[in-house]
Amino acid sequence: MADSVTRAGDRHATTAILDYVNRVHAAHDAGLARAFEVPDGIPAIQISPSDGKLIELLLRLVRAAKVVEVGTLVGYSAIHLARALAPGGHLWSIEYEPRHAEVARANLAAAGFADRATVLVGAGRDVLPTLAPHAPFDAVFIDADKGNYPHYAQWALDHLRPGGLVLGDNAYLFGELLEDSARGRAMRAFHELVAAHCDSVCATTPEGLVIGVKR
Ligand code: DHB
Ligand code: MG
Repeated sequence: MADSVTRAGDRHATTAILDYVNRVHAAHDAGLARAFEVPDGIPAIQISPSDGKLIELLLRLVRAAKVVEVGTLVGYSAIHLARALAPGGHLWSIEYEPRHAEVARANLAAAGFADRATVLVGAGRDVLPTLAPHAPFDAVFIDADKGNYPHYAQWALDHLRPGGLVLGDNAYLFGELLEDSARGRAMRAFHELVAAHCDSVCATTPEGLVIGVKR
């Protein structure tokens, strides 16, 4: 029998329960509510409210001030990251699609973060090297093209302070993590790279969220 694709919480978390806990622990303010609504023509692949709140709390715990995101989409996760920034901190978020970046900038501005968040348009591989002068960073959140996760993680490990966080969404690769495909191999390389250089876990969010604390 083939393994089923197990989503964390399937046995006990009904949709109504997830709605309840999101409402109690991760309620949207106006800025998050606006950014959660994705305009027509842009895929609704943002992280969940609880994942966003988890990332926000993790950043607060390490007192993150300088943060990089790879994969902005329309800025929902970026608002969570920006909310967590220590005083004087800054978020640099990289987005490949200019139209998505434009919506993200408007959402970040509406949420009050225009001066604390910069959305940079381009491929992660091209834009990350331009951020090196701001290193060391306190956290890097990877949520972009899955085949480049090992490259993004290596950059993160090279530019994070010890104790800094590397985070990666979609770490179960939509159920394809163990497949003998280029993407499967890349995502496994990502897991193994983070595990080799961090104290790490793959948190059992519905998508799998890798959390590494750089040694
Ligand atoms: C896709 C990308 C994501 O980051 C995600 O969370 C869900 C889906 C995608 O490319 O399909
Ligand atoms: Mg994602």
